Amino acid sequence: MLLSVISVVVSYLLGSVSFSILIAKWVKGIDIRQHGSGNAGATNTLRVLGKGPGILVFLLDIAKGVIAVWLGKWLGDNSWIPAVAGLASIIGHNWPVYFRFKGGKGIATTVGVVATLAFVPALIAGVVAIAVIALTRYVSLGSLLFALLTPIAIGIIQFGAPELVISLVLCVFAFVRHRTNLVKLVHGTESKLGAKKGM
Ligand code: G3P
Repeated sequence: MLLSVISVVVSYLLGSVSFSILIAKWVKGIDIRQHGSGNAGATNTLRVLGKGPGILVFLLDIAKGVIAVWLGKWLGDNSWIPAVAGLASIIGHNWPVYFRFKGGKGIATTVGVVATLAFVPALIAGVVAIAVIALTRYVSLGSLLFALLTPIAIGIIQFGAPELVISLVLCVFAFVRHRTNLVKLVHGTESKLGAKKGM
């Protein structure tokens, strides 16, 4: 039990390492949260700092989710712990203890968590999300579709209760964190990929 709790706490602390904030600070000496969309995530890093830093943040944020789930698999004493550890890493990413609880929207870390817990559903949702982003240039729309499609695919393919429940929670998180993007999408004012630099 103690090891399970440790894996969840460490996952939260790992998720709290906000790579977009750190890399923007190192590369440009800026707080990414005061530029572009103001979000501490890969999309805004891409928007503000360019492709290299954006891709690096995306991969590192995915890695946080992957490592958290593996930590839960390794130290956990029941089948819920990997999913809960993954959820903890996303909570850390969104509300990071090291950065006054002002973090990102959690999608890249969600990709890492879901891909490790349920690879095929993540792949299906990922292909649809990438296609939608390529067609519309709206990353937020692709992000929301990914979050929505994963519990559906997990339900259809019949994974266990932990994967289904956690993917539903992650879907709610994604919609709550993207509420301003949703309003902008509805009004047609959401920024498109490659549309502006933001600084
Ligand atoms: O995952 C974040 C993305 O969906 C939206 O980011 O910076 O455009 O609000 P942003």
